[in-house]
Amino acid sequence: MNASILVTRRIPTQGIEILKKYFTNVDINPEDRPMSRKEILDQVSGRDGVLCLLTDTIDEEVLDAACGVKIFANYAVGYNNIDVEAATQRKIMVTNTPGVLTNATADLTWSLLFAVARRIVESDRFTREGKFRGWGPMLFLGCELSGKTLGIIGAGRIGTAVALRSAGFGMKVIYVDKKRNKEIEERVGAISVDMDFLLSRSDFVSIHVPLSPETHHLISHRELGLMKKSSYLINTSRGPVIDEEALVVALQRGTIAGAGLDVYENEPDIEPDLKRLNNVVLLPHIGSATHEARTKMAVMAAENIVAGLKGERPPNLINPEVLER
Ligand code: DGY
Repeated sequence: MNASILVTRRIPTQGIEILKKYFTNVDINPEDRPMSRKEILDQVSGRDGVLCLLTDTIDEEVLDAACGVKIFANYAVGYNNIDVEAATQRKIMVTNTPGVLTNATADLTWSLLFAVARRIVESDRFTREGKFRGWGPMLFLGCELSGKTLGIIGAGRIGTAVALRSAGFGMKVIYVDKKRNKEIEERVGAISVDMDFLLSRSDFVSIHVPLSPETHHLISHRELGLMKKSSYLINTSRGPVIDEEALVVALQRGTIAGAGLDVYENEPDIEPDLKRLNNVVLLPHIGSATHEARTKMAVMAAENIVAGLKGERPPNLINPEVLER
């Protein structure tokens, strides 16, 4: 097809191969870094489709510069980086990559949970620094998972996968969601509760909501104040769901035991005080970073563009209104 596609950063080749098979002109950012705002503004014009990343802000200015673009295919399940309403007004399709990164993100959530519960990162640092002088009865005591309560905020695809993984650990599961989730209720005995109850009863609180005006700073001073002194907060969703400053205060004062974070309020910047704390594990937004998930995301994003430009409904269309006449 005679069409021009912009890919804003290198992604797994399987996705690129699909684009190259269908389209005459596929331009990929040659550098392994996000494109600057200016580069995006300059390069979206005259394209038919853009494969963009969660690190690209696709706002009204970009959408206006993107004359000719019919589809923005986000290489992520979350699409808070795109002004979907503004895209819809301009009849531009927006797609995402749901489902294929559920397992990867749920696995990473559990990695963080284990890491904070058993102080894995602190222990690793200690060992490497040559401080290990032999087994000690009080060395790096952590907490067991068995019998503990896991609180899931947002029981969608990823929240569900996280809850189901608790089965082998004998944990109680409680959750908050707008909808009842029969699957986790039946399979791991999860109980639907309200937010304050979840925060005050959970030993591990894990966040799995999309970022929206409703969920911005969902967890701030009041919510952290409800958590137990012995509890941990895990976030693999989006950083701004937690008020990072409030979290620093809670961690510094020890009003919660610790946190495991994969995402931050102002990525890639991180509250400097967070980095100074030992009771927090910090990861560089790698929730979906498995070969399997990233390959499937690349294929899915490419297939969304192919379908959209062939005049078909892309499989993961977020704003179907654009196809209504
Ligand atoms: C997503 O897809 O939203 C993830 O955060 C990407 O890692």
